[in-house]
Amino acid sequence: PLTLKDAAARHGRRFGSAFAWAPPGRDAASFNNPAYAALLQRDCAVLVAENQMKWQALRPSADRFDFAQFDAMVDWAMRNGFMMRGHTLYWAYSKWFPAWLNTQDFGQRPASAAAGILDHHIDTIAKRYGRKIYSYDVVNEAVDPDTGALRETSLSRAMGGTANVLDHAFRTARAAAPHAELVYNDYMSWEDGNEKHRVGVLSLLEEFRRRGTPVDALGVQSHIGLFQPTTDAGVLAHRLEPEWRRFLDRVVAMGYRLVITEFDVRDRGLPAAIAPRDRGVADFARAYLDIMLSYPQLGDVLAWGLSDRYSWLRGFEPRPDGAVARGCPYDIDLKPKPLRDAMIAALANG
Ligand code: G3I
Repeated sequence: PLTLKDAAARHGRRFGSAFAWAPPGRDAASFNNPAYAALLQRDCAVLVAENQMKWQALRPSADRFDFAQFDAMVDWAMRNGFMMRGHTLYWAYSKWFPAWLNTQDFGQRPASAAAGILDHHIDTIAKRYGRKIYSYDVVNEAVDPDTGALRETSLSRAMGGTANVLDHAFRTARAAAPHAELVYNDYMSWEDGNEKHRVGVLSLLEEFRRRGTPVDALGVQSHIGLFQPTTDAGVLAHRLEPEWRRFLDRVVAMGYRLVITEFDVRDRGLPAAIAPRDRGVADFARAYLDIMLSYPQLGDVLAWGLSDRYSWLRGFEPRPDGAVARGCPYDIDLKPKPLRDAMIAALANG
């Protein structure tokens, strides 16, 4: 039987997933959990750390790094023949800064002090891991979805604006990891009828090109969502298709490649009953992936976790009826679901 990575490989693509660090014996989406590690081994060619490469995890203070957990993940991935993506060198949103960075005093020469902290971060990671990481989400979520404007942070205030910070991040990454694919990663608010987020992302991508900022690809996170009650999820996806394509056509016309970086399905609009819910999730995913995979510019496809048991959706987006979200290819007992079949069929079809 075809696996997710085999199906993707048919068209020269890599399939992968996020995973986490946890001590041996803990029930978690970790390589240290043999049941979860077996799923990673079966279905994935690429792995990405869900949280452990973020500033909050790696950078307890301006002058200290803590690599213990992320190192263990990279070592395991390399020993077991996986490739690795890096998420993320700079999450451009103060909400997810480590607390010290939001209150940092940049002193008499704030622009160079702030740039120094950012450069030191990117340089240190890129040099430590070298070719072990072939692709980076250099910048994550810099656009405010409500306005389409770039988010301001302590770094942007010190460095004369967000555009300067983002350019700096990409240029430093290019110099420190010349082998790596450099990605701008965002979620685009696909389904909520508010176009501002996408308009903001498009203008950011245009500005990158105008300034010659070294960005290779757009990371389309793909936390796709069924929010309204629907009985035919495939039809819903095809209703959204023209708008998705308008956006993607503009992105590829600017010469960007595409990566699906964080795929899963939010199922709030579907009934709690498992059979129709799994059918709706699978149909929506199939229609979405068919659209994405029709772009030859689309390379790797990564899920944001393989099992509902450990999915961020359980905590961040609980269903109003209290049922466990079913947005991942394996269920809470690590059994494959119709979503996995739909993903395999879409990838194999290519
Ligand atoms: O590990 C600590 C634990 O020690 C502590 O006791 C506990 C108490 O809050 O928190 C644990 O950390 C949590 C971490 O997930 C690991 O579970 C953080 O609070 C929590 O904020 C963090 O959430 C992550 C979130 O990004 C913020 O970093 C989610 O797991 C992760 O799935 C989510 O991923 C994001 C992508 O990076 C960017 N795109 C959207 C995506 C989904 O929101």
